[in-house]
Amino acid sequence: MIEMIPRSWLFIPGDSEKKLGKADGSSADALILDLEDSVAPQAKADAREKVLAHLSARPRDGRKSLLYVRINPLGEGALEDLSGVMPGAPDGIMIPKTACADDVRVLSLWLDAFEAAHAIPAGSTRILPVATETAAGTLKLTEFADRPLPRLIGLTWGAEDLSAAIGASTNLDPATGEWALVYKLARVQVLLAARAAGVAAIDTLYVDFRDEAGLRQSSSRAADEGFAGRIAIHPAQVDPINDSFAPSPEAVEHARQVIAAFDASPGTGAVGLNGKMIDIPHLKQARNVLALHEAIAARG
Ligand code: COA
Ligand code: MG
Repeated sequence: MIEMIPRSWLFIPGDSEKKLGKADGSSADALILDLEDSVAPQAKADAREKVLAHLSARPRDGRKSLLYVRINPLGEGALEDLSGVMPGAPDGIMIPKTACADDVRVLSLWLDAFEAAHAIPAGSTRILPVATETAAGTLKLTEFADRPLPRLIGLTWGAEDLSAAIGASTNLDPATGEWALVYKLARVQVLLAARAAGVAAIDTLYVDFRDEAGLRQSSSRAADEGFAGRIAIHPAQVDPINDSFAPSPEAVEHARQVIAAFDASPGTGAVGLNGKMIDIPHLKQARNVLALHEAIAARG
């Protein structure tokens, strides 16, 4: 079975009993139990305990959503966070504010040790870095394409911390309301670096959580551009994101037609379909679409 890349990744502040209580009812493909920016410094210890309790309450193979934990950056409590939550065997770790691919390598070595200590299958804990939250990390995104990191499931990005890091007062272009150039650049680099590394690109959050139409529109665009999923910050964002990153019925039907057209002409590299030329890249894309459609259907 192919690994299904989560489409929706819903953040839940790790110190919020109330919001953690909503986790089981969520249709998010993945939940990110947060120990970093949504938790005040004085609440970190309490959040570690709550997150561990949440992980432990649901055995790894009985989880509806994958459970990731966002730890604090390396050198700012990451090791304490891992000590606190790894006994609960999270499916993955989100690491913020990476400065280079080596940060992910270090985290991976630490996970080797925690997996051994807690009888978790070796190498099974995945890593999702937020790879654009420092200027250095953004400049060095290409490192992810150079050397494969086995635990890496994808790359994601964030605009808020990057603007703070570079001293910008806004991350939006005042004329258009779209991302300013620096953030467009970071986003595109994440997409390219992730795909070059053979992993998923996960788009950043849509901050206006009451604007469902805007979220749907921008998520469909992201899906068309090649992103596999998106961060959510509010439960109302989960279904629109799941819909946007699932192939539409029309796309599935088209993929079936492409495959059928090639099946009908064995050994041919280019065929005609509805008056248009299709060749091998279209066939690959059609197979990807069907594989994703089947993985989503199997998930139920
Ligand atoms: N996870 C789980 N439940 C959530 C939730 C989340 N991320 N966000 C909101 N809820 C719950 C609320 O507790 C509320 O429950 P209730 O109906 O029982 O009162 C319900 O969903 C509706 O929430 P709403 O009143 O619309 O929003 P809010 O004002 O309570 O919260 C935020 C708004 C932005 C503070 C909240 O959505 C949140 O904490 N998001 C995550 C923030 C985060 O993790 N940031 C770090 C990554 S950038
Ligand atoms: Mg942050």
